[in-house]
Amino acid sequence: MGYAHDYAAAIMQRGRVPMAPVDFVPNWSDGPRKAKYYPGVDSLPLPVAGYPADASLDRAFDGGAEAPGAATGEGAFDLTSLSGMLLDSYGLTGRRLGVQANTDLSALPFYPLANWSRGSASGGGLYPVSVYWVSGPSGPVTPGVHYYSTRHHTMQRLLTGDVSGEVRESLGGYGADTDQYLVLGIKYWQNSFKYNSFSFHAVSMDLGAAVQTWRMWAGARGLAIEPAMWFDEARLQRLLGVQGQEEGVFAVVPLKWAGAQGGSTPSQSPTPSPAPSPAGPGAGSVSVQLRDVERSREVFTFDALLKMQEATSAQATERPAPGALTPAATPPADPDLPVAALPAAKPMPADVRTVLRRRRSSFGRFDASRPVTGEQLAACLAASTAGSRLGGDTGTGPDGDGVRLTKLYAFVNHVEGVEPGAYEYDPDARELRLVKAGRPGEFLQRNYFLSNYNLEQAGAVLVPTIRTSAVLDAVGDRGYRLVNATIGAVAQSVYTASSALELGCGVALGFDNVSYIEELGLDATGEAPLLIMMIGNERPAPADFRYEIA
Ligand SMILES: Cc1cc2nc3c(=O)[nH]c(=O)nc-3n(C[C@H](O)[C@H](O)[C@H](O)COP(=O)(O)O)c2cc1C
Repeated sequence: MGYAHDYAAAIMQRGRVPMAPVDFVPNWSDGPRKAKYYPGVDSLPLPVAGYPADASLDRAFDGGAEAPGAATGEGAFDLTSLSGMLLDSYGLTGRRLGVQANTDLSALPFYPLANWSRGSASGGGLYPVSVYWVSGPSGPVTPGVHYYSTRHHTMQRLLTGDVSGEVRESLGGYGADTDQYLVLGIKYWQNSFKYNSFSFHAVSMDLGAAVQTWRMWAGARGLAIEPAMWFDEARLQRLLGVQGQEEGVFAVVPLKWAGAQGGSTPSQSPTPSPAPSPAGPGAGSVSVQLRDVERSREVFTFDALLKMQEATSAQATERPAPGALTPAATPPADPDLPVAALPAAKPMPADVRTVLRRRRSSFGRFDASRPVTGEQLAACLAASTAGSRLGGDTGTGPDGDGVRLTKLYAFVNHVEGVEPGAYEYDPDARELRLVKAGRPGEFLQRNYFLSNYNLEQAGAVLVPTIRTSAVLDAVGDRGYRLVNATIGAVAQSVYTASSALELGCGVALGFDNVSYIEELGLDATGEAPLLIMMIGNERPAPADFRYEIA
């Protein structure tokens, strides 16, 4: 058994047995930036991008089956759609100035401490995902490596020259018929300065939230985002010029590019076999020379984080064989439990960009005087299920084994037509099954660590579970990244669905996982409840100030 098993156990227990270092206090005034900083680098402004009004969230969750180009596989990225997708996910779109219950409230009016809104959610609002664009000759710019600067919405040129073959080779045959790739790194210190050992758990969910934002944004308009999570990570770290212990490379997304013949690199790679371009550099011999300049004067490392990077990257190239995840599938709904019927899900016809721009965390603004409707709850549950498939090489997409890794539970406080209680969700029948009757508010609040939410005022609290140990047994320690990316994707799906349904939403990691295992009786199946996702109506007319910048 690898270290990831120990880490997973420590995470589950941390509400009762604190993780080392227990006396750690973040040095807020010496914190890192919320992005990487490459001084003096050349920047490429990104074009303004529209978004089709009919690219609805419903369509995104249907797998984009009805989107133009989806059926024919014609949908292809260009610089404009890439620009739009990045802006609507990790780009800054506005400033948060609404009054809420977080402890940072008093800082918000001060410009240096401004909190900028983004389409993707991120644990602690720290946004540690670094997005690199590796583009070969079929792209619109001189081939090279660019870093997406969220603050400027520009591409910063880190390297000039065609190194797309490096990425293609590192993927070991996956995504070989293109020369355009998004490479997603996680700069740990950006998160660990606050969350220390817990950091790996949070950032690996952030990765999933970001990728799922792309999957929804692109899927609704017939573009494909199919991430690879298994590849030669050390080789890509070398290419990006990052230190292995400081920045992990968590995903690579091959992009089908408009104008490229057959989506491939026409002159250099006519066959889909993974071959570096003949004109390109020798394997592993080229690297970004520019370095991120750290803002913090003092940077700490944390044992658990170092060990998790080591454990989850050790067998990074050993992509699981088809069917490998099958033993880790979630158990089906228990047919012996009483059924609580749900109405049809409320439609979500709004376009994905609009709902991402509206998305935000509720942070204490829930108000139960207006209950959630059954239709809204049904839509959030269906969105969680649809959003739990990351696709790509994870074996969870419709093109893979279609393994369902997550199961959903719902603690119902205030939902029209559904009695208060704890339920499991049957995604095939689209109905609930009663696990425990009675108002769950007291249980929920008692087991929440922070003071920024009154969970009893949420209409319902949804809880995705996943059989972490079974996934690790099935695919090795790198599976921890898949487990958490899947949960992050579910979180982002519920946030976005709530926005479309005009419901408040907030997800949280700050709860006692063990109590949830006991309350829902999950010990026997090994299901780990990894997140709580609150949905509900908010107090009317909240104090806010509009400050859109995109
Ligand atoms: C994986 C993950 C974990 C989170 N954990 C918490 C949490 O424990 N408590 C909380 O209040 N918010 C939590 N959040 C919400 C973030 O704090 C929030 O997304 C971020 O501050 C940005 O704010 P916004 O969602 O309003 O854009 C989490 C979000 C994600 C994606």
